[in-house]
Amino acid sequence: MICSVNIKRAYYGNRQVLEDIFFDVKEGGILAIVGESGAGKTTLGRLISGLYKFYPLTYEGKIDKKVELDVVPQNITDSLDPVFKIKEQILEICNDKKKVKNVLKIVGFTNQDDVLNFYPTNLSGGMKQRVLIAMAIIRSNFILADEFTSALDTVTKVKVVNLLKKLNTERKISLIFITHDMELLDFDGEIVILYGGKILEKGKIGEIKRDAWHPYTKFLINSTPKLGLHYTNYKFSNINIKNNYACPFYNSCDIAQDLCKESIPSLKKKGDRWIRCHF
Ligand SMILES: Nc1ncnc2c1ncn2[C@@H]1O[C@H](COP(=O)(O)OP(=O)(O)O)[C@@H](O)[C@H]1O
Ligand code: SF4
Ligand SMILES: [Mg+2]
Repeated sequence: MICSVNIKRAYYGNRQVLEDIFFDVKEGGILAIVGESGAGKTTLGRLISGLYKFYPLTYEGKIDKKVELDVVPQNITDSLDPVFKIKEQILEICNDKKKVKNVLKIVGFTNQDDVLNFYPTNLSGGMKQRVLIAMAIIRSNFILADEFTSALDTVTKVKVVNLLKKLNTERKISLIFITHDMELLDFDGEIVILYGGKILEKGKIGEIKRDAWHPYTKFLINSTPKLGLHYTNYKFSNINIKNNYACPFYNSCDIAQDLCKESIPSLKKKGDRWIRCHF
């Protein structure tokens, strides 16, 4: 295991934002954290990476890491300083030019000297993202990518995800991949479906994509961009999450029964999968 997470609760100030989150990341493995906006994905990333210290964020529980985790940032525009050439920014974290050029080659640049002499404005979104991935793998072999493809067009997005996949299979880079887009998860690994700061379903990516059990996971799969749906157009966005006695999906769930409005489901293990649903 490269990382083992067991968070009982996490809070911004007094406000609880995560509850009962547990998973392991295998050495050389991939863990995907999936959920819509506000689910708590970035907060979880902040806790695992240690960046939570810069926020009013506290937690109860345990996070064990064998190596430090490096974060590939979501905001590619702000993550490279426009005033400095790429070489000045990369050589700041590793002054071995040969190693830097090799890492740039690994992330797919054939013209490494040109790239080093570019300013960030000379790079496309996909190129910037590859530079940021290069910087992350110089620092660590355990990286967290938080919605890092969100600013890219679909074709570039797929290319960058394929690069991460390649780094994982060929160079054994362990990866935590945060996204709201199930469609991007075209690789083996574990998945945690997060909603309202809680795990709703957890298991193997392939199995859950093939046969999702939780109504919310089914919704996420059916609302991939391929189908042209958007969360805000879907009835799940009307979930009444303020009712402390009902399942959060009661108002939207096709298979809800009376029990669902009287009791909140707990997270239960069924085979090698975890699910938070009464049925
Ligand atoms: N810096 C912060 N201070 C207080 N609350 C925050 C902060 N960042 C996020 N939150 C809250 O924590 C919850 C989870 O947010 P976040 O982890 O950003 O979700 P996601 O990444 O899944 O969109 C949300 O209710 C959000 O408003
Ligand atoms: S507990 Fe009931 S309302 Fe909630 S997801 Fe399951 S079936 Fe639907
Ligand atoms: Mg986020």
